[in-house]
Amino acid sequence: MNEQILNETARAMVAEGRGILAADESTGTIEKRFKSIGVENTEPNRRAYRDMLFTTPGFEQYTSGVILFEETLFQSALDGTPFPKLLASKGVIPGIKVDKGAKPLAGAADELVTEGLDGLRERLVKYKEAGARFAKWRAVITIGDGIPSDYCIHANAHALARYAALCQEADIVPIVEPEVLMDADNTIEVCASVTDRTLEAVFHELHGQRVLLEGMVLKPNMVISGKKCPQQADRETVARATLRVLKRRVPAAVPGIAFLSGGQSDEDATAHLDIMNKLGPHPWKLTFSYGRALQAAALKAWGGGNADAGRKAHLHRAKMNGLAALGRWEP
Ligand code: 13P
Repeated sequence: MNEQILNETARAMVAEGRGILAADESTGTIEKRFKSIGVENTEPNRRAYRDMLFTTPGFEQYTSGVILFEETLFQSALDGTPFPKLLASKGVIPGIKVDKGAKPLAGAADELVTEGLDGLRERLVKYKEAGARFAKWRAVITIGDGIPSDYCIHANAHALARYAALCQEADIVPIVEPEVLMDADNTIEVCASVTDRTLEAVFHELHGQRVLLEGMVLKPNMVISGKKCPQQADRETVARATLRVLKRRVPAAVPGIAFLSGGQSDEDATAHLDIMNKLGPHPWKLTFSYGRALQAAALKAWGGGNADAGRKAHLHRAKMNGLAALGRWEP
């Protein structure tokens, strides 16, 4: 493990005014996105869509890194340049989603555990050769009647730490993503308490498994009302509640926190990040690692063939989120 390389890469991923584009939808997830615009989920269409995103002129000003799906890491842009090489030439760090998805957790109804540790050490070597300098693993925590269980939280935290330790052994920065879902009808207080329990378990396991905190990036959910909750907390409340949990649970040694958007509207995701940064300074950089909140408008504008409209929409969201990462966004 090269501590200096890990720390330099982690700091570059959360550099001033820049964040991460999560474009690592699995073939199944991109199918859902393409369906919403009536585009067939074929390899050439996936390649053309990612080409549109990564050839957006100027997006690198606001984008430190891109998380790729395995297929994309080994694909080439429409001009023949391998995607990781194209990104690196713009100063954007290529990363790779390495988990194999959330599967039912044995003995725990309605709860999930993320798989993908078997063979990971060998896969990481291949990914590094292809140009990946960081990785991502997403754990999913579901809020519901009597859940999450401590069993589910601990199984996921343990796997996240095993993944993170293997990445660091290969000098690849792990993005540690424990996502508490926002799909249920719970209040923001319940989200705060579940996020608190989850982050406590995650940092306990990271410490126990000797993960270098200076060489990782945390990708958490924001503390927010469940989508189906009748009382929706306002933006300032979300920002303050999120900061309160993070300050209690995330050591200052972690260089940065890059949030997921999790189904928030594009503008809410930008506004929440912006308010948190306006409330700074904080011990860690606070930025974005958005999937849907960076891509939804671009996907729609692209519509299967209009690359210029897609790029324009992508650049706009990237710029707004870049401003929010500085606390300089204006509604
Ligand atoms: P969303 O921002 O759409 O939640 O996606 C981020 C991500 O990478 C989920 O793993």
